[in-house]
Amino acid sequence: MHSNTLLEIASEYGSPVYVYDSEKMASQYKRLTNAFNKVKQVKINYAVKALSNISVLKLMNSLGSGLDTVSIQEVKLGLVAGFSPENIIYTPNGVSLEEIELAANLGVQINIDNLSILEQFGTKYPKTPVCIRINPHVMAGGNTNISVGHIDSKFGISIHQIPHILRIVENTHMTINGIHMHTGSDILDIDVFLYASEILFETAKNFKNLEFIDFGSGFKVPYKEGDIETNIEEFGKKLSKRFTAFCEEYGKELTLAFEPGKFLVSEAGYFLTKVNVVKQTTSTVFAQVDSGFNHLIRPMLYGSQHEIINISNPDGRERFYSVVGYICETDTFANNRRISEITEGDILAFKNAGAYCYSMASNYNSRYRPAEVLWLKGKPHLIRKRETFDDIIKNQIEITL
Ligand SMILES: Cc1ncc(COP(=O)(O)O)c(C=O)c1O
Repeated sequence: MHSNTLLEIASEYGSPVYVYDSEKMASQYKRLTNAFNKVKQVKINYAVKALSNISVLKLMNSLGSGLDTVSIQEVKLGLVAGFSPENIIYTPNGVSLEEIELAANLGVQINIDNLSILEQFGTKYPKTPVCIRINPHVMAGGNTNISVGHIDSKFGISIHQIPHILRIVENTHMTINGIHMHTGSDILDIDVFLYASEILFETAKNFKNLEFIDFGSGFKVPYKEGDIETNIEEFGKKLSKRFTAFCEEYGKELTLAFEPGKFLVSEAGYFLTKVNVVKQTTSTVFAQVDSGFNHLIRPMLYGSQHEIINISNPDGRERFYSVVGYICETDTFANNRRISEITEGDILAFKNAGAYCYSMASNYNSRYRPAEVLWLKGKPHLIRKRETFDDIIKNQIEITL
C-alpha cells in the first residue's frame, strides 16, 4: 500500500493501528490456487489463527477459501463469518474430548492428533468421519518454536504408530476420510516438504476411505528485501504431479488440501505506530513508539524481522535506529536498523504485520489492543475498534475489602 494512504489511515483512526490490504490477500489466494491448477480438486483452508477478524474471514469466504481452525472459538468465528461447517476443518492439539464433541456437533471436519482421543471419539461416534494428523518426523520450519513435525514435537500421531491407528479403526468401525500433516512454518526447502509428502502418501495407502490429503502449510514469505520465499509455483508443479500420480495409484480422485496462514495474510498487513520519543544513549539512538510486544510479539518471541519504514519521511536521509516500545521490560522491535531520519511524532510502518500479529496481541501493561482497518475496494473500513478502559475492566470483579 502507498505510504500516503497509510498516513491518512493513521491520521483518521489514530495509532497504533493495524491495516490490511484485501487486494494482496486476494492475489496471494489466486497465486496459490494457480500453482495447483493442474489438480482436479484443491481446497485451501485459511488458518484462522493467523488473523481472525471476522471481516477478514468473510473476505476469505468470498474468495472461495475454507477454514482451518484450532479451537472451538475459531470454529464459532468461522460460522459467524458465514462459512458452512463442511468448509471448516478443526485441528486442535491437546484439547478435551468435550471440546471435540462440541465441534463435531457443529458439523465441522474433525482432525485428531492423538491415539487416546481417536479411540474415545471413534468408540462414541463411529459414524463421524475423522481426519488424522500424522507426525512424519521431519525437521522443517524457520525456528524451533514453529517446527512442529519432528520427533520431539507434541503434534500429530507418529508414523510409527500406524498399526495402532489401524487397530483403533478396526475395533471402533470408524471411518478415516482424511490424513493431514503440518510440519512447521517458514519452510525454505521445498524438497523437505516434498519428502514429508512422500511419507504422507505412504501413510495414505493404509486407509481405504480417504477423501482428502491435507498437506498443512508452512510456506515462507519474504520479510525483507532479498529475502528467500517458498517458490510456490515450482512447489505447485512438483507436488501436483506427484499428487495426481498418487490418486491414480490409490484409485480415486482425492482432494488436495492446504491450510495457509502466513502466505495469505502476512504481506497484506501493516502495523502503524507513532514515535513518542527519540532517545540518544551512549550506544544507540532509540526510536520509542506508542506500542510494544503487547501488540506485536513476533520479534521478541521468534526473533522475526519486520521491515520498518518511516512513512512520515520516506525519502529522508537514512540513519541507524533501535526501534523499541513502551513496555516495562525489554521490547525491541528492531536493532540497529537503517530507517529514514526519524522525528518525534513520525509514523513508522511495520511490514508483514498480517499474520500472527494482532491475533497474538494482549493487554499487557493494561494497554488497549489497537484498532484494525481493512483496505477494500479503494477505501479504508474500520473492522475492529480500538479498545477502551471499559474493555480492561469489564470482566474484573471488584471485591469489598
Ligand atoms: C495445524 C496448522 N496448520 C496451518 C498453520 C498455518 O501455518 P502458516 O501460517 O505457516 O501458513 C499452522 C500454524 O501454526 C498450524 O499449526
